[in-house]
Amino acid sequence: MFSLNYISCFVLKTTKTILNIYTTKSRLHLSPHSCAVALYKMSKLKLYITRPDVPEKAIALLKEKFEVAMWTGSGPVPREDLLRGVRGCDALYCFLTDRIDQEVLDCAGESLRVVGTMSVGHDHVDVPVLKQRGVLLGITPDVLTDAVADLTLALLLATSRRLFEANRQITEGKWTAWAPFWMCGPGLKASTAGIVGFGRIGQEVARRLRPFKVAALLYSGRSDKPEAGELGATRVPLGDLLERSDFVIVTCALTPDTREMFNDALFSKMKRSAVFINVSRGGVVDQAALLRALQGGVILAAGLDVTTPEPLPPSHPLCSLPNCVLLPHIGSATHQARTDMAVLTARNILAAVEGRPLPAPAF
Ligand code: DGY
Repeated sequence: MFSLNYISCFVLKTTKTILNIYTTKSRLHLSPHSCAVALYKMSKLKLYITRPDVPEKAIALLKEKFEVAMWTGSGPVPREDLLRGVRGCDALYCFLTDRIDQEVLDCAGESLRVVGTMSVGHDHVDVPVLKQRGVLLGITPDVLTDAVADLTLALLLATSRRLFEANRQITEGKWTAWAPFWMCGPGLKASTAGIVGFGRIGQEVARRLRPFKVAALLYSGRSDKPEAGELGATRVPLGDLLERSDFVIVTCALTPDTREMFNDALFSKMKRSAVFINVSRGGVVDQAALLRALQGGVILAAGLDVTTPEPLPPSHPLCSLPNCVLLPHIGSATHQARTDMAVLTARNILAAVEGRPLPAPAF
């Protein structure tokens, strides 16, 4: 439903446009047809996109309805430009690198109807502020699930089987001869894997783990998931999961409840041989505690696709640990997933301004 503010804003804008055209027409003697075309063009809604590298497929959809402006510099939009860019916009297309809060909404003004973020995680958006102002939020679940689940398995194997460390043995001239226990790590066969957060991504990770012949699949979360039966996964309290798992895999969302939940206390519950994998958000981990756990042998190794901050500076102590595999937040980085995410973001935005239910609302 359109809010009263939105409708009055639209009526005001349209009336202003008609008056402008009317006065211009009498001065320039325009035909009624060119007047109508001008009215259509001028009354297009305004959209701001915070990056220039959105697939053309998504932009083309948006251009049918919007006058599209975007940040054209490289990298994430600087704050000042974001605040300037959103002024008077009806819709905002953003990314997980943009903090969308009260200040952004204030700068956008009353016309802002919807924020579409090209991500499933939306911890960068101040949801209570959006709700309070009647601004909708679209996200991109489902279309990235398989890509992230694939990456999770790749990261788990790279960490447990020490792929990067092993590769460095060659490139640094340290490969002298084959040896029985050189570069060994734990195998998945007959192991226990524990998944923290059993949403779509957690479930797809479980599905991919089965063919590796794990003995047990555990998950923890707020509620029983009906899909667990088919996947052969058992819900257990988090403490039990940490004590029993050889592989602890984090796929939960970052919320006030999960922020820095992996702290000294939780790492010390894990097996000394445990491999810890995080593909959700860096914020769910107390990174100083993780560093201590890796340096002190509290756990065996960690594989992280997400860190705090991002990018993680190369001088960060985690970067020089042989038992820590770091990736630069590439969970959903397949061409297909990113294109689908872009199109779904466009569809969310279009649905909002057309008064239809969002295909993927955050709330
Ligand atoms: C998301 O969509 O939240 C992912 O982290 C981006 O890959």
